[in-house]
Formats: sequence, C-alpha cells, structure tokens
Amino acid sequence: TRENERGLRTPIVAVLGHVDHGKTSLLDKIRGSTVIEGEAGAITQHIGATAIPLDVVSKVAGSLIDPSDFDLPGLLFIDTPGHHSFTTLRSRGGALADIAILVVDVNDGFQPQTLEAINILKQSQTPFVVAANKIDTIPGWKPNEDAPVQQTKEAQSDRVQSALDEQLYEIIGELSDEGFSADMYWRVQDFRGNIGVVPVSAETGEGVPDLLTVLMGLAQRYMKEDMAIDVTGPGAGTVLEVKEEKGFGTTLDVVLYDGTIREDETIVVGGLDDPIVTDVRAILKPRPLAEIRTEDRFEKVDEIAAASGVKIAAPDLDDAMAGAPVRVVRDRDIEEVITEVRAEL
Ligand code: GTP
Ligand code: MG
Repeated sequence: TRENERGLRTPIVAVLGHVDHGKTSLLDKIRGSTVIEGEAGAITQHIGATAIPLDVVSKVAGSLIDPSDFDLPGLLFIDTPGHHSFTTLRSRGGALADIAILVVDVNDGFQPQTLEAINILKQSQTPFVVAANKIDTIPGWKPNEDAPVQQTKEAQSDRVQSALDEQLYEIIGELSDEGFSADMYWRVQDFRGNIGVVPVSAETGEGVPDLLTVLMGLAQRYMKEDMAIDVTGPGAGTVLEVKEEKGFGTTLDVVLYDGTIREDETIVVGGLDDPIVTDVRAILKPRPLAEIRTEDRFEKVDEIAAASGVKIAAPDLDDAMAGAPVRVVRDRDIEEVITEVRAEL
C-alpha cells in the first residue's frame, strides 16, 4: 500500500435553479471562455461534470483574481436539470456539493424550483452564491462581452442601471423572505453569513469573471479544511445515475469526492434491498470531444482520484440506486464498509 498523502481536492460546485433560467448556458459560457483562453486541453469533461483548473479559472477572472492567493486545484461543476420532475437529481447534486450556484433569471425572479433548490441548500447547509442571470435582456442593455459586472453596469444608461437594480433588489428581497441576509456581492464582507448576488449574462459573459472569483473565494476561505483529504485513500462517492451502456451492461455514473478508485478493486454500493458488493471491471472517462467515435465514447483508466465524475462498470449493479453511496473497500474490513454504506441509505 502507498503512503497516505494529504492534499487539497477540487471543490464540487452544483449549479441549481428553475427550468430555463440558464444553468447549462452558464456552464457552456464558462467552458467556452476557457477554451477561447487557449486552454482547450485543460478542461476535462467528466461524467456528469466539468473540471476547470485554477490557472484557467484565474485567466477568465482576469484582474479580479490573483492566482497566488489560491492553492485549490480548480473547480468541478455539476449541472442539474430545472424541470420539476427531477427533484431527486437536484437534491443529490445539492447534497454532494461543497458550494452551489443558484441561477435566477433576473426578469423572472424566484420560481417554484428556485425555492425548492433553496430548501435543498438549506437542508445540506451548502454555502451558495446567486447568479442573477440574463442581465443582457434588460431593455436598452449594451453588452460588453466578458466584462466584469461593475464595469459593464457603470457603462449603461441611468435608466438601464435602475431597471437592473430594481430586479436585483427584488431577488435580494426574496432571499430575505427565505431567511437569508443577501446583498450585491461586492458589498458582502463575510460570505458565510451573507449571500452574494452576482449579476451575470450567460449569453455575453458579463459578470462571469466575478462569479468565478466569488466561487474561488468561498471555496478557499471557508472550505479549505473540508477539501483536505487523503488523496490516495480508499474512494468514496455518490451514484448520480444508474445506466445501461452498450458493451458494459449496467454502469454507475459516480461523483467521487474522496480518495481514489482503481480497476479490479472491491466496492460496496447502496442497493434496493441491501448493499451490493462487487469488483470494478472498468473505470471509464468520456473521450475528449475531438476523439469521439460512436462506438468508443469512453476511455478506460486504471485509477481515478477525487474530485471527479466517472462511469464504473461492474457485475451485479442492476439493483444499485441513484443517490446511493459508493465505497472502495481496499485494506479495510468489508463488514465495516457494508455497515457504513447501510447507515447512509
Ligand atoms: P434546464 O436545464 O431545462 O433547467 O434549463 P437551464 O437552466 O439549463 O437553461 P438553459 O441554459 O438551457 O437556457 C434556457 C434558455 O435561455 C436558452 O434559450 C438560452 O439560450 C437562454 N439563456 C440562458 N442564459 C441567457 C442569458 O444570459 N441571456 C440571454 N439572452 N439568454 C439566455
Ligand atoms: Mg440545463
């Protein structure tokens, strides 16, 4: 066995919010700007997640971030669907996340799934920021692509600025109705006690530098202790989805938040009746976009470390449950691991 090695893992960021408020667009924008920054190879697409390393985050954030202030490796984003029927996916994402972005359409304000997301975040006590999205749709808005938000806001006419402020104060008021003290992010001193509202546009990229800066700040200042894990320890994760995959049978899409998982290792997975004990047949990552061929969507790896999104192929997974824990046994007593998994179901 290897020596234990402490390290800081990538914080997991869940993106939550009402249907069509712009969660996926925001992630696309973050991915897109990072590709434009000439770091295409640095963005790794995971199963159900996207990892953005620190140097790329700081390039997008531009002058707002000093990378020497941070020692976290970057951010791992998990998208969630906003449609009302996907409550379980949302609560799983919320429970897994170290921090979250609550996306709210600045014109639409709070909607049913916004409130549902807030309740999930309250329950899991997950710190979050609010991305007040679609500021480019404020009538009369003149976009400044990828600009920090205060800069582009000050460049707008007085009328447009007050129209935006009005919508933002509406959102701040709704957060207050939910028991959160909130303000524009640039006025927030302590992000633990106060929710920062970041005006953004997933369309024009305005405010995206600010959003990444606030997220890195949150992760670094308040979560560093939780991010310190035994990077080579036995893996722990959560099943996001159970899926049939051609050539592999039933597979698990897992977000690994602790340790490592290796091919051929014994794992315990939460199942319908009882925990399932099985051996990992393959650990699969999506192939880089450029290399995708229809039959060969996945790439096999021998080992993967937290935090990451992976697909696990193994026998006997038919009764595995989405939302259930996954634990690598490695050199531990298997009965103890089974008890641990059962306790989490
Ligand atoms: P679900 O996954 O279905 O919950 O939706 P979503 O929150 O991921 O929203 P999505 O990113 O799919 O965006 C919904 C629509 O809003 C799309 O047509 C986007 O192009 C549009 N949209 C998203 N963000 C912005 C924005 O900042 N400005 C403008 N003008 N349109 C936006
Ligand atoms: Mg979406």
